[in-house]
Amino acid sequence: MPKDDLQENAPPNLLANALRGEVEWEEDRLIDGLTRKLIQMVADGDELESHGHRLALMASLLGVELGLNRADMLSLRRGAYLHDIGKIGIPSSILLKRGPLDDREWRIMQKHPAIGERICRDLPSLSGILPIIRSHHERWDGTGYPDGLRGETIPLLARITQIADIYDALTTQRPYKSAFLPEKALEIIQEEGQRGWRDPRLVMAIEDLFPVFKTLPPDNASSFSLQALSEVVRRRKWF
Ligand SMILES: [Fe+2]
Ligand SMILES: [Fe+2]
Repeated sequence: MPKDDLQENAPPNLLANALRGEVEWEEDRLIDGLTRKLIQMVADGDELESHGHRLALMASLLGVELGLNRADMLSLRRGAYLHDIGKIGIPSSILLKRGPLDDREWRIMQKHPAIGERICRDLPSLSGILPIIRSHHERWDGTGYPDGLRGETIPLLARITQIADIYDALTTQRPYKSAFLPEKALEIIQEEGQRGWRDPRLVMAIEDLFPVFKTLPPDNASSFSLQALSEVVRRRKWF
């Protein structure tokens, strides 16, 4: 079909169309539901759950942009909800502290990826997200934790989850900070890229998708179909 026909026949409102779309991963709804419930149980539910929804959406958009396969897309979605599951083992006096952590608290906080991996490693259906759980705090230049991995040795799904996680952390209010505007968040990610902390290809992907990220739709968007997400990425806009 010629490109112009495609445009002409495309629905006028992509967002509404996407929300009407069926969930493509029907067979995985049960486990998705369970992981969300689990997350709700381990911390202050609403905030964490909506963070998971936004992250699932942003990571999936990046996944479509990078042409990931269906299995990886599913892992990204689950990883969005479970990447920080290890925080269940961190005292809330540290987790919810207002203000910076001291050295001792910081060392405890840095254990959460390994704790999370331990919690999930015996569940075969979660094997695809173990690299996300373990490596979502590594840095491109090797200065991250827990393993000090560098560059391409950091699993791609962990790098994608991390960059979406940072964008969401920057653009939302947290106990220790107010929300930055999307433009400022992008600027910070670009600076971190120049400092060598982030995968340059992913910084570019966020720049490319910025018009979409900037106007993120409501929190129930994690149920978007893969087809609808692909359409959003292709057209670089929700509406
Ligand atoms: Fe984390
Ligand atoms: Fe997170």
